[in-house]
Amino acid sequence: MEQLHVETPSRSYPVYIGEGIRHQAVRLLEPVLKGKSRVLIFSDANVASLYGDEVKAALEAFHPVSFFSIEAGESSKSLEGYEKGLTACMEEHLDRQSVIIALGGGVIGDLAGFVAATYMRGIAFVQMPTTLLAQDSSVGGKTGINHPLGKNLIGAFYQPEAVIYDTETLVSLPDKEWRSGFAEMIKHAYIKDPEFLAWLKENVQSVDAMKKDTLRRFLKRSIAIKADIVKEDEKESGVRAFLNFGHTLGHALEKVSGYGDMTHGEAVAAGMIFSMKLSNYLQLSDWNIKEEASWLEKLGYDVEAPSAFSPAELMEAIKNDKKVQAGELAFVLVESPGRPFLQKVRESDVLDLLTEMKKGGVKYD
Ligand SMILES: NC(=O)c1ccc[n+]([C@@H]2O[C@H](COP(=O)([O-])OP(=O)(O)OC[C@H]3O[C@@H](n4cnc5c(N)ncnc54)[C@H](O)[C@@H]3O)[C@@H](O)[C@H]2O)c1
Ligand SMILES: [Zn+2]
Repeated sequence: MEQLHVETPSRSYPVYIGEGIRHQAVRLLEPVLKGKSRVLIFSDANVASLYGDEVKAALEAFHPVSFFSIEAGESSKSLEGYEKGLTACMEEHLDRQSVIIALGGGVIGDLAGFVAATYMRGIAFVQMPTTLLAQDSSVGGKTGINHPLGKNLIGAFYQPEAVIYDTETLVSLPDKEWRSGFAEMIKHAYIKDPEFLAWLKENVQSVDAMKKDTLRRFLKRSIAIKADIVKEDEKESGVRAFLNFGHTLGHALEKVSGYGDMTHGEAVAAGMIFSMKLSNYLQLSDWNIKEEASWLEKLGYDVEAPSAFSPAELMEAIKNDKKVQAGELAFVLVESPGRPFLQKVRESDVLDLLTEMKKGGVKYD
């Protein structure tokens, strides 16, 4: 088992990473569960049927445990899903000494975390991530839900008490979800670690290669990058914004494709290539787009996804994203691996680029 420590101004907590460690949850969570009244395991239907009973049984031997599961998928990260979660807390008589355990992917982590942040003004919560993507989402304390007008527009910064990352649960993850999570890992490498990026490019040329025994090592590296950034800037007033690389267009793609068709990571992958095109377009970088895109395409990402949608519709979605400040579009661009920067971009430039992509132009080879 590997262990990392995340330090933020509001809380410090351990991240445990290891094969089969869900079976050790009782021991690992001892400091968190000590003196607590009740535990609510919060999961989705898929994860509940795979790992719900095991985790419940392990904890039940020592604590009163309730279980709540919601429909799987991004659509549960909604006001309705949030209400259902809160109702479960009330029905199960959770009090301020209770603990919520988020057992699932980023959707459950974000939703259960937000429920924990707001139920009775905040009760303890623990992340037990089960997707590759959750190497990003389970660390850092961003919790929240979507609104029909935009993604993650409602939420709170609320750190977990601990993260238990059992890599054995990833064996049941569909390839599409491996790809989704891997995109966030690529993102961490692009913004912070050129060496890690080179290593990933050399060693990971297929989805199967993501699943190799090197996984735990690069999972740890990726989480460490995220933890470093969050330590420096918990509430996103500075460097944390770089984690949004690929997300401005990514969120717009998720929205116009109807939340769920495209996974978060697939949208982010297309968003990262778009950002590179944009920075070349603005003459702020000199990316070899063909080279960057061909690696992502080999891994199965559709980096030309924006061209399937109307530029005006994408623009509308971009403008609803919370990264738009005072009417200016703030894009995270990367000059070269490890050198991200925040750039105000004119709406017309983004629209021009989207329009050219739609026509099949702008390849920047
Ligand atoms: N809070 C953050 O910092 C942060 C960072 C990145 C992404 N996110 C959010 O995370 C969400 C995406 O997370 P996700 O990709 O994990 O999606 P998800 O939670 O919807 O999981 C993807 C799918 O895989 C299934 N699944 C989960 N674990 C499984 C397992 N072990 N075996 C088989 N199936 C499994 C789920 O039921 C679901 O159908 C988005 O809403 C995104 O906005 C948050
Ligand atoms: Zn993301």
